[in-house]
Amino acid sequence: MVKINLGGCSSFVKDADYQQYVQKALAAYDVLQSGSGAGNDFLGWKTLPIDTPESLIADCEAIREDWAIREVDLIVVIGIGGSYLGARCAIEALSHSFLHQVGAPQIVFAGNNLSEDYLAELMDLAQLHSTACVVISKSGTTTEPAVAFRVVKEYLEQAYGKSEAAARIVAITDAKKGALKTLAAQEGYKTFVVPDNVGGRYSVLTPVGILPIILAGFDMRAMLKGAADEREALQERSAANAAVQYAAMRNLLYREAGKKVEVLVTFHPKLQYLGEWWKQLFGESEGKEGVGIFPASVVCTTDLHSMGQFIQEGDRVLFETTVTVENAARKVVIGSDEQNLDQLNYLAGQRVEHCNKMAQLGTKLAHIDGGVPQLELSVEKLDEYNLGSLFYFFEFACGVSAYVLGINPFNQPGVEAYKKNMFALLRKPGYEARTEEILKRI
Ligand code: PA5
Repeated sequence: MVKINLGGCSSFVKDADYQQYVQKALAAYDVLQSGSGAGNDFLGWKTLPIDTPESLIADCEAIREDWAIREVDLIVVIGIGGSYLGARCAIEALSHSFLHQVGAPQIVFAGNNLSEDYLAELMDLAQLHSTACVVISKSGTTTEPAVAFRVVKEYLEQAYGKSEAAARIVAITDAKKGALKTLAAQEGYKTFVVPDNVGGRYSVLTPVGILPIILAGFDMRAMLKGAADEREALQERSAANAAVQYAAMRNLLYREAGKKVEVLVTFHPKLQYLGEWWKQLFGESEGKEGVGIFPASVVCTTDLHSMGQFIQEGDRVLFETTVTVENAARKVVIGSDEQNLDQLNYLAGQRVEHCNKMAQLGTKLAHIDGGVPQLELSVEKLDEYNLGSLFYFFEFACGVSAYVLGINPFNQPGVEAYKKNMFALLRKPGYEARTEEILKRI
């Protein structure tokens, strides 16, 4: 379960102002819960933790077993934005930092960029392995994953033959429409559906996240249970609701204290992609109509040696939200050294995690002194259950927060602008007029 601590904001805001924003957040909470707000046809994510059928998990496990029989040891997960960030976040958070999960295939991601070198090097890797592919696109028309899939599909068909390649491909897309849907039906791929009423960045608990996480060897039932318990906790309509508190404080800091940038902080390198997932969730949900808190992220202590200077003393537009993991999973104790040449004997007998926690506390106090309000969200440990809680907490809090801001959290009209220019420049049929227009500008 996610706990919140707003103590590190108390010197920056007045309690009366905070109470006022709690009332705004409670009003936004009502809009979200009643489904009466803008974008209310995209609220399917709210009940995913309790709606997901056991048969979906079993179907995903059946693919894992089938691919194990085919001795698949590399799975390319193709998708961009909400169609890969949740799975990548979960898999990186739960995986060993250096070794692949015993007995599970290596998972790699593609289709989230248009780098030719990246794709060429991916093909180098595929040739060293027995490869399969999960291609994910809700719209089924996004260029980046479509290009990557064309390359991977061609490779699989050359390497294994058309029929075996088809058995090594799963498509996750819309139930009825889109090029990927048509292609999958034509080629006879196994498919899963992204529900109509769940947007990309809220889709980690649909097959979009569920299949890759199960293929990577992790316990999806535990993740859904964590999300379901978090959902239950957030049903309480009160000023003690952690999502209400988070939404209230971040909007107060933004509107009344000039804090335009929120930095999500973790002291665990495995949570780097939590930051990436969170940035997409909040950035795409809130950044529109000329408003929004800019979401950034850092991994500490690493980034204290790069971004730390700016956070401590740069333009005072920042606040930080630290995701704390209370207990480390492993134990490493610092030993004693007779010569003590490195002068570290004062730490002898201490766990490394103790140093990490003291670094976190020291950073928090320094940043408060530097004018950076500190919010803290904590979970007990880094496992499937707590990640499920974090996913649900942030999704719910994002909905509440965007409604406080007066924004539809569930659309992303701005994402289309670059696509139109790219299509015009690539001379996609139908974009001729824009091509003419754009060529005059360059
Ligand atoms: O959150 C979103 O809706 C987007 O980030 C999409 O996930 C992203 O653009 C990919 O879209 P699609 O799954 O249709 O390929």
